[in-house]
Amino acid sequence: MWKKFSKLHDNILVEAPSERYFQPNEWPAFWRDRLDLECRPNSLQEGAVKALKAGALQDKIAFTRETARHWFDGKLGLGGAVLTKVPDRPGRPDLPKLVPPQQTKKRSLRSEKGRFALLHAIAHIELNAIDLAWDIVARFVNQGMPRSFFDGWVRVALEESKHFSLLQERLSEMGGAYGDLDAHDGLWEAAQVTSHGLTARLAVVPLILEARGLDITPSLLEKMEEIGDDRSARIFHIIYRDEQGHVAVGAKWFRYLCLREGKEPAAAFQELVRKHFRGPLKPPFNDMARARAGLTPGFYRALSSSGT
Ligand SMILES: [Fe+2]
Ligand SMILES: [Fe+2]
Repeated sequence: MWKKFSKLHDNILVEAPSERYFQPNEWPAFWRDRLDLECRPNSLQEGAVKALKAGALQDKIAFTRETARHWFDGKLGLGGAVLTKVPDRPGRPDLPKLVPPQQTKKRSLRSEKGRFALLHAIAHIELNAIDLAWDIVARFVNQGMPRSFFDGWVRVALEESKHFSLLQERLSEMGGAYGDLDAHDGLWEAAQVTSHGLTARLAVVPLILEARGLDITPSLLEKMEEIGDDRSARIFHIIYRDEQGHVAVGAKWFRYLCLREGKEPAAAFQELVRKHFRGPLKPPFNDMARARAGLTPGFYRALSSSGT
């Protein structure tokens, strides 16, 4: 269990190598001064599984931060020599209730209720994203990937937990909480159909689902600014910047695996997506942000519903 620290010595905060990954000023005050140093996992895989299994939201975030800190401070090995069962489903709180996607309500962003529903839906995506990142770490720990591959995914898990906790804080400022509305399980289903292979997982999770976030976020951000909801706009700014990094981690290691397997990356991507992802990709695409992350149009254009 994590333990509350009011504040440790400033020098420790500055000197710890993990500090540069944490961006403490971007976290809600609740988490900012915590160091979560009390319960070191025996390995990265053990920490990942612990975070995955945690049903209570605070525990999931605390285990994520704790594992990330020990990993980036160089105190953890990969693990994997000891057989650890990776759960098929992550631990979750009792709420929100999971319903089919068509049963989740859409509301206008002009109303406070509508904005709450949007932020709630995105909080749900971010919570899934924490588990998806840890699932990649835990499930594919024995695939001969270099340490920097795990650096990338631990960073993703840490940033997703920051995104989730920022949205959780915003929902509470608006008088509610994560769990107040129903949510759907589509993201975890995408994880389950690609649990057999790392290239398939990278094609579908970072390069389809997270890249879709890059297409959508700028217009949401603009709407929040237009409405004058600066608190939510700030969160979308952070998410948008970080998510480009997540797609970049996916693109880099997808290319690496293709090279290792002697495959042409764009063709391999298209084949995997056709096999494991339902339906065409929806334009418009944010080509600039995608390209900055290393996902060039040659990968996804041919899969789009317009085919261009
Ligand atoms: Fe995120
Ligand atoms: Fe992400």
